[in-house]
Amino acid sequence: MPAPHSRSFRDGKTLEGEIAAAMHHVRALGVTYPDHYYESLVLKYEKDSVPYPHILTILGEPRIRSHFYYGEALQRPGPLLDYGCGTGDNIRQILRDGFPRDRITGFDLSWESIDLGFDLYRDRDALRDLFVVNDTFPFRKEQFDTVYSGSVIHVIADDAELDEYLANAYRALRPGGILFGSTLGIEDGNACGPDEHGPPRVSPRSDIIRHITAAGFAEPAIVAKPHEAHRLGDKKCVFEFCATRHKNP
Ligand SMILES: C[S@@+](CC[C@H](N)C(=O)[O-])C[C@H]1O[C@@H](n2cnc3c(N)ncnc32)[C@H](O)[C@@H]1O
Repeated sequence: MPAPHSRSFRDGKTLEGEIAAAMHHVRALGVTYPDHYYESLVLKYEKDSVPYPHILTILGEPRIRSHFYYGEALQRPGPLLDYGCGTGDNIRQILRDGFPRDRITGFDLSWESIDLGFDLYRDRDALRDLFVVNDTFPFRKEQFDTVYSGSVIHVIADDAELDEYLANAYRALRPGGILFGSTLGIEDGNACGPDEHGPPRVSPRSDIIRHITAAGFAEPAIVAKPHEAHRLGDKKCVFEFCATRHKNP
């Protein structure tokens, strides 16, 4: 369950405005809505609240599609896990880009964001079987060839929990498998901690390398990109990473 700060809108954004913007993006992808659908969604999420409101802002434009490894990931063999899949926006993107449906699984700790995605894309019946929810990691060893981790590391405050998350990804990958993803961070040398409204972990590059290699992966390739909500004087960035699970000797 996200901490309360992970449910608050910031920078003048509102639930009404973000749902309207998300529906606009999703309409552009060909989804249609019945009359009064917007009002019913606002009512529903006023009551339930939205976890991680920023995912509404980027809905329909998921980070995976501009990831430096994305083109290669689409060509990989075998099953792919979206670990901490949220709304499932990345899964819809890889489906649109032709990755075989029967090789995709989305996993999250709760249905909250997955349901928000179903409500916005109106595809619950079509995609429900791709998602798995559990409060512990349910997959067996060496089940996947590729694991995607989009904006999950920065929401895990606790170091031991993050190490467990990455160790799960490592174990679930076959030797030679790839972990790729992104996390909010800050270039080394810029002093910055988490702010009151932001995610709990704002990692310097060196911390990302330390946690990923501690899980057993080879040192990751890391690329820093600007964050969508970048403000003047704000040194935060999005770090994209890609690391390989060593082949067995
Ligand atoms: C900010 S959202 C990002 C969702 C999605 N990956 C995206 O790119 O839009 C973070 C997601 O990570 C999930 N999450 C956090 N800790 C997790 C864990 N230990 N295992 C699996 N999912 C986790 C949260 O429930 C939430 O859905």
